Amino acid sequence: MAIPTSRTKEPGRIFINTLKCDGCGHCVKVCSDFGFELVDHKAVISKNSIFGCVACGQCMMACPTGAIAVEGRTLSPIQLFDLPDKESVPTFDSLLALLQRRRSIRTFKDKTVESEKINQILEAAQTAPMGLPPSDVHVIVFENKKQVRAFAEGFSVYLKSIRWMASNWFMTLMRPFWGKANDEMMHEFIKPVFEIYVDSMEKGENWINYDAPLAMYFYGSPYTDPADPIIAATYAMLAGESLGLGTCMLGAVHPFIQNGKKARLFREKWGIKYPSREGLFVIFGYADVHYKKGVKRTFADIHRVS
Ligand SMILES: Cc1cc2nc3c(=O)[nH]c(=O)nc-3n(C[C@H](O)[C@H](O)[C@H](O)COP(=O)(O)O)c2cc1C
Repeated sequence: MAIPTSRTKEPGRIFINTLKCDGCGHCVKVCSDFGFELVDHKAVISKNSIFGCVACGQCMMACPTGAIAVEGRTLSPIQLFDLPDKESVPTFDSLLALLQRRRSIRTFKDKTVESEKINQILEAAQTAPMGLPPSDVHVIVFENKKQVRAFAEGFSVYLKSIRWMASNWFMTLMRPFWGKANDEMMHEFIKPVFEIYVDSMEKGENWINYDAPLAMYFYGSPYTDPADPIIAATYAMLAGESLGLGTCMLGAVHPFIQNGKKARLFREKWGIKYPSREGLFVIFGYADVHYKKGVKRTFADIHRVS
């Protein structure tokens, strides 16, 4: 067995065409598994491999003569493509402008997001880096407002059934176990979330996913690095922005649907295959509000070690 994911447990298989290999050594440099060495100016598979080939494909992407092919773990040389021109990538200034113009959008025009744009968002999101290839990110796409609303209504009903989690007796009971920060978050954030998500939905107001015309839920399997769905969601969000859509990340669904029988049944109903350490919704749509200014945001701390 190789490093497992929900998609594959096999190792990648590396093929080297020694006639094509010119001994440049790029494969040796890029393989972080020490999978190659040069013998008599030719690349050979080394015995120093630590994990076995994870099929990241870096060797065949770096090889200038096309001497390397990697097969397996969902990868094959058929997936290689020519890189876009260097001139076509955004400059720092244009990237920063996109980032600075982004705002979390929660009110949308009653306009469907075109199927072509959904495909473009998914295409861009799949370029995201991952802890270990192949990506173990799963995506559920809610393609219209009706589906998005149906999910929110279902989630609200589900939350109502587990509302005891935000009751005073339960929080008092748990305080010694989950610590000060969690206790404060439970009182000041989670309890009001229950109130607004459940009570508002009963009045017909959707504060869960804001009746967006498009929503995507990025989550992992138990094998996935918890950062992977978050990074993929971030790529999707930025792709949406570049296509003129307003976007907003929604973190307040994932933690509630991980544990217990009711959570499992909820996941099954919506086709969510696994509980996972991280998951994130991104909603998209044509913004119904426009901002005149940005604000300069800061991290909690930047400590430059020099
Ligand atoms: C991980 C994450 C989870 C979030 N979850 C929610 C959410 O559940 N509901 C919501 O309205 N906004 C959510 N947001 C949006 C933030 O509230 C928003 O980014 C913040 O208010 C700053 O506003 P800005 O994005 O316009 O700069 C989330 C953002 C992130 C990054």
